[in-house]
Amino acid sequence: MLRGHHKRYHKLYLYSFDRKHPALHEIDDEDFIGCWEEDGLAIVFFHKPKDALLDRLAKELGLTIEDRAEVSYDEWSEGRKISCLKFGDIVLRPVWEEGPGLKFDPGVVFGSGNHPTTKLCLSWIYKLWQEYGPFEKVADLGCGAGLLSLLSASLGAQVLAVDFNPLCVELTRKNLALNHLEHRATVYCEDVKKLVPFEADLVIANLFKGLLLDLFGLPSFWQNRYYLFSGFSPAMEKELREALWPKARIKGREEENGWVIWFVENEV
Ligand SMILES: C[S@@+](CC[C@H](N)C(=O)[O-])C[C@H]1O[C@@H](n2cnc3c(N)ncnc32)[C@H](O)[C@@H]1O
Repeated sequence: MLRGHHKRYHKLYLYSFDRKHPALHEIDDEDFIGCWEEDGLAIVFFHKPKDALLDRLAKELGLTIEDRAEVSYDEWSEGRKISCLKFGDIVLRPVWEEGPGLKFDPGVVFGSGNHPTTKLCLSWIYKLWQEYGPFEKVADLGCGAGLLSLLSASLGAQVLAVDFNPLCVELTRKNLALNHLEHRATVYCEDVKKLVPFEADLVIANLFKGLLLDLFGLPSFWQNRYYLFSGFSPAMEKELREALWPKARIKGREEENGWVIWFVENEV
């Protein structure tokens, strides 16, 4: 995430380590963006090349740097531009855009507002608020950059957010704090499945198909009423629909650029 004098992202320098280590989160360097952890591995991100610093650190910590890469922020964002997002009278702006509304640092994790699934989730959160809301408690499962939590908190919900990638947790907390909404959310660094059961009026899960199937199969996951599910393509819907039935009913569906969102009501 953006720290110190950095106001936006241009080039990214990535270093992949063979395993995670707490010290990789505490690197004291003005160009440090953050440390991504997944499946026991760690990738550290910088605004500038840091070979000497990281070679030294790897030696001190007994780690191996397995890969180094330089990519533009546009490439990293898969060519999808990060810009203002508007839902009714609510505007979410990347920190480098001047103007009123909610501010966010898009970071280098998923969910910076430029992916169709994030946009679909945001627009459905807003829409559901108009039709069914307000929602007192919202769960954001796999919070990424935290925009779904941010919008829900700004609409007045108390949010439970979770992601197993510490960089997502850090960025979600930062994005809430940028808007003075940190008191409206608890952000956990944990596996989603370990958080079940939880209580929420609206559960939002923009996750991959395998994890959605796992969650659908947990009876204690179905103790809430309204759910938004995204992160899958039309080709995956049949399998997901079969796993859903007869627990819950799809009340709404939208598709954008090959991605789907479902609004589901649990009628049990
Ligand atoms: C598709 S992204 C969605 C991000 C954000 N909610 C959005 O809609 O833009 C999925 C997120 O779920 C997280 N994730 C994937 N599997 C997870 C698991 N088992 N437990 C916790 N988080 C997980 C990933 O780290 C990633 O940030």
